[in-house]
Amino acid sequence: MRVRLALALAFVVFAGACTGVPAEDATGEEIYLQLCARCHAPDLSGGLGPALGPGSAAASRPDDFLRIAITRGRGRMPAFGGVLSDEQVERVIGYLRERQ
Ligand code: HEC
Repeated sequence: MRVRLALALAFVVFAGACTGVPAEDATGEEIYLQLCARCHAPDLSGGLGPALGPGSAAASRPDDFLRIAITRGRGRMPAFGGVLSDEQVERVIGYLRERQ
């Protein structure tokens, strides 16, 4: 029983930590929901990370700022430069701009 519980917990932790790499042709929205929503919320309202939606600081920042935050990481946010291709980063920025 204990062992089963431990295995179940280990699986949950592993599945949570390993969100995987989005498909090469994933849309900005799919990438956002897969990699970003757990900290910035599916509706961009924020959580562990700041809000990214309309009226947020991110909405008034230049694309370059977002690009650097996403690829190099920022504070407690991990870097995604090794996970996402340049085009995927642009698609995610496009998605944020659309929602802002
Ligand atoms: C582990 C949680 C976490 C994940 C996952 C995450 N972020 Fe963040 N993000 C943060 C935190 C925390 C900050 C604030 C960093 C700071 O300024 O100290 C932040 C900051 C940002 C900023 C800068 C906002 C501003 O106005 O300063 C942008 C843009 C951003 N994240 C976009 C994304 C995108 C896009 C993704 C997915 C590719 C993502 N984040 C994934 C936690 C996360």
